[in-house]
Amino acid sequence: MRRPILFGNWKLNHRHKDLTAFTAEFKSLMSSREPECDFGFAPVATLLSEATRSFKGSGASIAAQDIHSFASGAFTGTISAEHAVDAGAQFVIIGHSERRAYFAEDDTSVNAKVRRALSVGLTPIVCVGEPLSIRDAGGHEKFVKSQVTSALQDLSSDEASTIVIAYEPVWAIGTGKSATPEMAQEMHAAIRETLSSLFGRSAAEKVRIQYGGSVKASNAAELMAMPDIDGALVGGASLRADSFVAILDALN
Ligand code: 13P
Repeated sequence: MRRPILFGNWKLNHRHKDLTAFTAEFKSLMSSREPECDFGFAPVATLLSEATRSFKGSGASIAAQDIHSFASGAFTGTISAEHAVDAGAQFVIIGHSERRAYFAEDDTSVNAKVRRALSVGLTPIVCVGEPLSIRDAGGHEKFVKSQVTSALQDLSSDEASTIVIAYEPVWAIGTGKSATPEMAQEMHAAIRETLSSLFGRSAAEKVRIQYGGSVKASNAAELMAMPDIDGALVGGASLRADSFVAILDALN
């Protein structure tokens, strides 16, 4: 049985004052709840340390939104896996479609970052997902399987079994147009099949696969009811404590 996992990806949102207000409301909402799942938030890099302090006692984990593939060196404007760990992160989002679209992230760098994260004990949340043109042409399954295979190249079965994958169809992100539970389940099953062929059935059964793309309280429960959907990666609806907690409630 896989433990569900819900993460809020705050992207380029929320400043220090917003974090303080968010955690106060979040802790008050959580005081009457004991969710049977893992959950957390990915704030901007400058807030990682403060978020670690501020969410303490709430049960939330912290994720970085990205890391560099090198530990240190002349790479202006980024953070390493070690910096994320120093700031208290336990997870890191890797290969988000916005990184792929706007920051030249490709399958090779995604794989390097996944291996870097694992080497310092960070759990990667590896994002995959097809653009609308690929889905319209019927190539979505092949496209996503190839992203998964490239991202996880050279991992051992033990390593692979610990990661989280987020299936986020690009056309569903920030559009209000979520994949139907059936569409998402079909892709999640295909991803698990790919994992099984690469790392064996037992490792594949352990990997948690989140769905992401316009998840909100009103559609979370039907998505989570699908056998291969093990949680969600939430953008817009994670920016308010009450809407994130409503999704948490729907998961349980
Ligand atoms: P939305 O929930 O705003 O569609 O964003 C999804 C996402 O990109 C999470 O990483």
